Amino acid sequence: MSIEMPTNMPTNMLLDPWPYPRLFAHRGGGTHAPENTMAAFRKGLKRGFHAVEFDVKLSSDGVPMLMHDDTLDRTTNAHGPFAARTASELAKLDAGSWFDVQFQGERIPTFAEVAEFLKANRMAANVEIKPCPGREAETGSVVGAMCARLWEDQLLPPLISSFSLEALRAARAAAPTLPIGFLAESFEPAHLPLMDELRCVSFECAHQEVTPALVADIHATGRRLFAYTVNDPIRMKSILALGVDGVFTDALAVMAREFSESLSPTGAG
Ligand code: G3P
Ligand code: MG
Repeated sequence: MSIEMPTNMPTNMLLDPWPYPRLFAHRGGGTHAPENTMAAFRKGLKRGFHAVEFDVKLSSDGVPMLMHDDTLDRTTNAHGPFAARTASELAKLDAGSWFDVQFQGERIPTFAEVAEFLKANRMAANVEIKPCPGREAETGSVVGAMCARLWEDQLLPPLISSFSLEALRAARAAAPTLPIGFLAESFEPAHLPLMDELRCVSFECAHQEVTPALVADIHATGRRLFAYTVNDPIRMKSILALGVDGVFTDALAVMAREFSESLSPTGAG
């Protein structure tokens, strides 16, 4: 595959030097705490992570809150669609007991309260827009606008990403200058014009798809390559050696111990 350097991408969108650490705690706290909760972010911070990934979707009344699944069944004490509940109804649910009784009473946080925690603790954010079906553009627009507003006084912007093209287009319109990552399970050449259109700074895919050729080809476009989700230290060592720029992991303790140099930004171009 041969990739031309995009000509319509302002150099300031490429973020050089790259300001983010290579390791991102996946869903806040990986396997150490209930995903996408404040307990998860506290755990990620305690384990030495300075960058976290998390999933954001809209309550029925339009409030961005953290949740991975479209339904409440797996990670709360309730059932049914997330999008059918208001923010105040969602805030009353127990989002911790499913994981461990010690987290009983842990709540579904709002995106706004998570942003305040991350800024106060100088943690970098990869905000994954995870829209409920049919709400792609609305979610992208609301979350993009909130990213721009909540981080307007910060030097380090959040990296916005999504598997939803519609959500990314809406986020780009709402946040013209923030960095965007294009999420897809695997790379396809058809992604290139879309990444140009969205002025993406990164391509993010399943780690099983990462090869030396993919690293070289994505870098040749001036973008960074991210991989999800690496929980085996042997694979982490090999994927970092390939030159992957960002890796999501659930295995916070072992990765922080064995790859401590990747917990902070290197500033490498
Ligand atoms: O953003 C990387 C990763 O979180 C994507 O997969 O399903 O864990 O949100 P998922
Ligand atoms: Mg995610």
